[in-house]
Amino acid sequence: MPNLSLSGLKNLRINLNLHLKKEPEEAIPPPAPKSIPRGLKVIEKYSLYEPFCHVIIVQNPKTGEHKYILDELQLDPLERDVYHRILEILLAEIESPKEEIADPRRFFAEAAKKIVDKYRISLGWLPDVSWYKILYHAERDLVGFGKIDPLMRDPNIEDISCDGVNKPVYIWHRNHESIETNLQFENDEILDNMVVKLVHMAGKHVSTAFPIVDASLPGKHRLAVCYRREITPFGTAFTIRKFKEDPYSIIDLINIGTFSEEMAAYLWVCLENRASVMVLGGTAAGKTTALNALGCLIKPGSKIMTIEETAELNLSHENWVSLIARQSYGLGGSSVGEVALFDLVKTCMRHRPDLMIVGEVRGQEAYVLFQALATGHGGMCTMHAENVESAVKRLTQKPMDISPAYIPLMNIVMSVQRVHLVKNGEKKAFRRVLSVNEILDYEKYVHPFKWDPLKDEHQMSLESSAQITSIAERLGMNVEDVHAEINRRRNVLCWMRTQKIRSYRDVATVIAEYYARPKQFYEKVLSEKEAKPVAVNRNA
Ligand SMILES: Nc1ncnc2c1ncn2[C@@H]1O[C@H](COP(=O)(O)OP(=O)(O)OP(=O)(O)O)[C@@H](O)[C@H]1O
Ligand SMILES: [Mg+2]
Repeated sequence: MPNLSLSGLKNLRINLNLHLKKEPEEAIPPPAPKSIPRGLKVIEKYSLYEPFCHVIIVQNPKTGEHKYILDELQLDPLERDVYHRILEILLAEIESPKEEIADPRRFFAEAAKKIVDKYRISLGWLPDVSWYKILYHAERDLVGFGKIDPLMRDPNIEDISCDGVNKPVYIWHRNHESIETNLQFENDEILDNMVVKLVHMAGKHVSTAFPIVDASLPGKHRLAVCYRREITPFGTAFTIRKFKEDPYSIIDLINIGTFSEEMAAYLWVCLENRASVMVLGGTAAGKTTALNALGCLIKPGSKIMTIEETAELNLSHENWVSLIARQSYGLGGSSVGEVALFDLVKTCMRHRPDLMIVGEVRGQEAYVLFQALATGHGGMCTMHAENVESAVKRLTQKPMDISPAYIPLMNIVMSVQRVHLVKNGEKKAFRRVLSVNEILDYEKYVHPFKWDPLKDEHQMSLESSAQITSIAERLGMNVEDVHAEINRRRNVLCWMRTQKIRSYRDVATVIAEYYARPKQFYEKVLSEKEAKPVAVNRNA
């Protein structure tokens, strides 16, 4: 579970007040499934936080639909009464920490336990197990994410979304895709209070005057909110894109078949030689993840500036500046106080970055990014588009409005997609890089890599690559030398897989070593390279 930031604790009093002013129904838990509804088949069971919450995933054999049943220990009426009184005492007694602390959850748990020990006798006798439950609920509701806290603990969940009041909360589960849960918000007040709390945790403000908020929750989870019935007639809606604490590295993405080794090695050489790269894909296709994984390959020491609407990128480079856009705090159509992506890209140019990474281009910031590419800066970004043709169409139309003559400044455009494949007799969703294209000229592309859906393999045709030719020319080398370098790097990537080096940090360390002492490091790789290559687990 990620640590909650200090802002989570600083808002403790606000959260406490929100909880205290609520009528008892607020805490009415989702029905704990003592038995699975008849006719449903249990597909999977796992624990989220022993002994407090478990998950049961069931399937309706008739419709094939899955449901995520959260089985969370609930408070009985007596415990609930004590829980409410404890919240009042906590409000009066707990002190916000004066400085940044590493683990706010632990801080809260320890402080709350001391207070509980002090008042335990005066609150009436309860068995130890009841106190554990009360403390679990207090922590969940005050420093955790409230009712959705157990979902935030589930590493299998990618997204959590609530469409309104009295509607089941949906999740995107890594194994079962979009499924309904047994959680829902019974009325507007409960839902609105919970969302206000989340927005406060993100250090932002939401109200009927400002009903749209995009924010970053503690733990870097991306939160999008439409508040009350101002713009969402079914009531407050929110979506959380959960942040993966242990981000996918380029090796992870090779191991699960999203990239091929050759493709990663080719991109590694191109990135080192300042090629600009754009990652395309639909919603939740894995664009940001692919962009972040490519970050592993960037030369250490390069000055990297990232520009995002909400902080999602997670690089291990020391010389990295992260710029995050700020929403306006003016009323109506006013943009007072707003710092848009466009402003950030312009600012970024003055900081002389080696590489500028824009999380997602949508508007005028694309124009400035291409200006930056024209002046020799390196650039990477993602864009919502299905393929290179539609991306170029979007880029050359308003509001991006990039002249067709500038389009080839984006050297490499790769598209990622969520694809459905049948593996071991079961249809599942996977992410694959569908193609890596080089832009030679406006509407003129070559495809050094293409994914073959029948074989679930990436086909390589590097002889078509203009990037390799241009790198060779720039470095005064033969094209064969560049191919040989790509092959060496492929072997380094393969070696990392055999050595089970996969975490983002470890991969970045190896890459740094290769940059520092390529010859010696490669000799080591060759001497340790196992004869048997590691199999890619494309079923993961
Ligand atoms: N190659 C992959 N294999 C498995 N899961 C992946 C892969 N790439 C991304 N994911 C998961 O898919 C979810 C969406 O990924 P990501 O945020 O990168 O998508 P996106 O295309 O940037 O989405 P958006 O359009 O919302 O910005 C995340 O939970 C991420 O962990
Ligand atoms: Mg994204």
